Amino acid sequence: MGVNMKKAIIIGSSSGIGMQLAQVMSKDGFVLGLTGRRIELLDSLKDQLPTQAYTKHMDITNTNASIDCLNSLIDEMGGVDLIIVSAGTGYVNKNLEWKLEQETINTNVLGVTAIIDTSIRYFLNKKSGHLAAISSVASLRGSAECPSYNASKAYLSNYLEGIRCKIKKQNLDIAITDIKPGLVDTAMAKGDGLFWIMPLEKVAAQIYTALKKRKDQVYVTKRWAFLGFILKNLPRALYYKI
Ligand SMILES: NC(=O)c1ccc[n+]([C@@H]2O[C@H](COP(=O)([O-])OP(=O)(O)OC[C@H]3O[C@@H](n4cnc5c(N)ncnc54)[C@H](OP(=O)(O)O)[C@@H]3O)[C@@H](O)[C@H]2O)c1
Repeated sequence: MGVNMKKAIIIGSSSGIGMQLAQVMSKDGFVLGLTGRRIELLDSLKDQLPTQAYTKHMDITNTNASIDCLNSLIDEMGGVDLIIVSAGTGYVNKNLEWKLEQETINTNVLGVTAIIDTSIRYFLNKKSGHLAAISSVASLRGSAECPSYNASKAYLSNYLEGIRCKIKKQNLDIAITDIKPGLVDTAMAKGDGLFWIMPLEKVAAQIYTALKKRKDQVYVTKRWAFLGFILKNLPRALYYKI
């Protein structure tokens, strides 16, 4: 491996946004660490990539095992520059079934926090690095149909802001990027004829551009930034009606 090769880990890269980002970044020369529960998908992705990749089975809801797994992946790769957290789940849950709420919270809140904290401890120790996580436009308001999903993304964006404040106070060279996509054409965006759904290739390309600029926050795409602004500022009485 060349000494100047950039190295990144993508948590949740067996499908969707994480997998597409892996393809874009590998084409651009990144050596990658790929994690998820579906190890066979990660291994077949690894075989298609033009650069070297390392795969690890990881279920982020098993927090202690995931912390150990992430630390050993970083070691195996000889250190990393960037960690992207794409892992997440969500359900339309009109009946508030506890199993679905629990899985969403365990994954998007508990699991994601364990990964963020492990990554930040590593970057603080080496005094540089870049952490990014995929939140959502859904973080901006509550949802009648998937309340735990929107709430978990609000938690994530707020948590990332907290970590960013902590880093900025210490004036360290560590970037924290909060990525807020609108609807993306992946397994997660369930249902037909969804509003303004975006192709995966476009989304991954825009996310990668924002990562290269080490942005604090990015909406993907710009039209979702506009919708997000309206959503965020809509009076409650109006919001309840839509
Ligand atoms: N699609 C959208 O419209 C949309 C919009 C805004 C934000 N997002 C966010 O984007 C991120 C990626 O989602 P996606 O749309 O690309 O959907 P996806 O294709 O379902 O990808 C989700 C990824 O998360 C991983 N994952 C889920 N639960 C996990 C667990 N317990 N442990 C480890 N990995 C886990 C999955 O891997 P395994 O199943 O192999 O474990 C998979 O690689 C999510 O955080 C999602 O909330 C999506």
